[in-house]
Amino acid sequence: MEGSSQGAPILVASNRGPVSYTVASDGTLTSRRGGGGVVSGLSAIGPDAGSVWVCAALSDGDREAVRQGVAEPGVRMIAIDPDVFHAAYNDIANSVLWFVHHLLYQTPFEPVFDETFRDQWAAYEAYNQAFADALAQEAAEGAAVLVQDYHLALVPGLLRERRPDLRIGHFSHTPWAPPDYFRLLPDDVARPLLEGILGADRAAFLTRRWAGAFAACCADVLGAEVAADGGSVTYRGRTTRLGVHGLGADGAFLRERSQRPDVEERMAALRAEAGPGRRLIVRVDRTELSKNIVRGLHAYRQLLTDHPGWRERVVHVAFAYPSRQDLAIYREYTAEVSRVATAINEEFGTDGWTPVILKVDDDFARSLAAYRLADVALVNPIRDGMNLVAKEVPVVSDQGVALVLSREAGAFEELGDDAFTVNPYDIRATAVALNLALTLPEAERADRTKRLAAAATALPPSRWFLDQLDAIGG
Ligand code: G6P
Repeated sequence: MEGSSQGAPILVASNRGPVSYTVASDGTLTSRRGGGGVVSGLSAIGPDAGSVWVCAALSDGDREAVRQGVAEPGVRMIAIDPDVFHAAYNDIANSVLWFVHHLLYQTPFEPVFDETFRDQWAAYEAYNQAFADALAQEAAEGAAVLVQDYHLALVPGLLRERRPDLRIGHFSHTPWAPPDYFRLLPDDVARPLLEGILGADRAAFLTRRWAGAFAACCADVLGAEVAADGGSVTYRGRTTRLGVHGLGADGAFLRERSQRPDVEERMAALRAEAGPGRRLIVRVDRTELSKNIVRGLHAYRQLLTDHPGWRERVVHVAFAYPSRQDLAIYREYTAEVSRVATAINEEFGTDGWTPVILKVDDDFARSLAAYRLADVALVNPIRDGMNLVAKEVPVVSDQGVALVLSREAGAFEELGDDAFTVNPYDIRATAVALNLALTLPEAERADRTKRLAAAATALPPSRWFLDQLDAIGG
């Protein structure tokens, strides 16, 4: 099949694919489609483009689908040995690479790169090889391949070895670590990660800041040469271009979806639960360690302490949806979020007022309801590739919203001018920002919201995807 003209002209590779399966006890499979930027991008090129999306089988249902030969057109799921997958995904991608890029380690204790880590790293290599093999097999001569994220950092290099005819792009959806932090990784791991991505013709990022950090790591760790304008990296005689594509919110979709009856129903329910007339400070996140939900709660507590006038008059609506529950530290973090929310309610709550409404069950319509009602949106991550919530809230807001935004979120590059900026570690400063946001005059709030919404929708997902394809000549 190598180089076959039968193959696909456009390929996408990501760990999580556009579809997932659940298997009933009688073996029947049910499929569910997901969303996101790449899904919108591929729908923009249409079903006739002959694209193939290579992704991993994540669940037992996915593996059963592969076993039964069940697949959606244009999707190739690869069933990797569950132990190899677990080590590559949970132990390396989520527990090491995610931690490095988001600066999450408590360095006196971690990371520890021992023999167990070496075995896990070998699994990560095997998992990346499986992707490179599948892509090499599926791609037509000269095809364009867009590889997604930190799970697949080795794929561009491995694929180039197998298929030098291909045009390869890599996109990082996360931040990139600064060199001093990236160098926590052993050299024989740090180097292949960078060399892997440099196997692409073009490596792209969500912001200039993350592209710059990647270039700085290449210079520092590999001794690669970075162009004076920062636009490319040359290493061992090959040049990889760097690109920036600031993924925006899907304005048309959000505006339409947020006006449907199920959202209206949830608005009424939320309004009733919060109490009429109360101001709402809203946050919606996957419960990631990087989202800083706990410090957000502490800042809200500080607000109630410093400004008792807000008591009974404001409610913090915090939606913290489950993520990566296979990892103990995520489970502990989730428990801490609940504990702190409960403590605030016990300390300040009264008969008619619950200061924090915490929901942990994922409900998209309810998220949109909260977006529409929010007086203040709190987006305070420790570090975030972009953060689409910051972009989505202003787009659907009914009455205008004041955005409290961490300067460490990628979205800050585009939204910072019209947001209340916070250092995510600074509880007092966050409490001050919440108070300012709550007291922002209505007219200014409306003006800022308009500008935020315009900036947030500047690069819709379909354009974001097509631009990357154009840039590698797809
Ligand atoms: C976030 C990050 C992406 C990453 C994804 C993986 O959305 O921004 O960079 O690909 O998480 O999440 P998962 O649930 O598949 O581990």
